[in-house]
Amino acid sequence: MTVKAFIFDLDGVLTDTAEFHFIAWQATAHHLGLEFTREDNEALKGVDRVGSLQLILDKGKLTVSEEQFEQLLADKNKHYLELINDINPGNLFPGVLDCFAVLKAKGIKIGLASASKNAAFVVDKLGIADLFDFIGDAASVANSKPAPDIFLSVAQGLGLAPEDCLGVEDAVAGVSAIKAAAMYAVGIGEKSVLTQADIVFPTTGEMDVQQLLS
Ligand code: BG6
Ligand code: MG
Repeated sequence: MTVKAFIFDLDGVLTDTAEFHFIAWQATAHHLGLEFTREDNEALKGVDRVGSLQLILDKGKLTVSEEQFEQLLADKNKHYLELINDINPGNLFPGVLDCFAVLKAKGIKIGLASASKNAAFVVDKLGIADLFDFIGDAASVANSKPAPDIFLSVAQGLGLAPEDCLGVEDAVAGVSAIKAAAMYAVGIGEKSVLTQADIVFPTTGEMDVQQLLS
């Protein structure tokens, strides 16, 4: 396989916003009188906003009105936006810029496949928006992760076949999405969690780009 593009997830891969999503969802759960641990959070990683709230409600065997559901989503996003208000290029994970530089030097395209509707805002704050050849739009795909849609739309946006692309993800749902898109899946995190990934590195900075390209 000759890799022509790296398609990155955002939250938890390029920056630690996954932690802010966790803090905000935990506050939502507590507001509902539910416990919410880091372990519970693994199932939410990579899952879109509506799906995440549904998982919390399902776990607590709770139902809310449509109006309450919308309010909970709005409150969570407001809290999340407050938490990320001060993020800046310093919040990029170590090694991300070096990795992008290596990819660019080798003529490998760079895509972004985030489930977050805040992705454009976040990459702007991180100062990396211009480094992407294509940024996927979570709002415009029919099915969210673990469905392959966002990864397929980014491959299309890059003008490449899915088989020419490699995906990088920290979430179980995200790795499933990459595999469903028939791409090579690089997991960031723990091998015991990201069992579907083709290869796993503990952190983005430890990702061996040369090895992945050979
Ligand atoms: C994903 C995160 O990238 O985006 C999830 O892993 C998050 O935790 C999802 O829920 C949706 O984000 P947003 O910003 O649209 O609420
Ligand atoms: Mg992620």
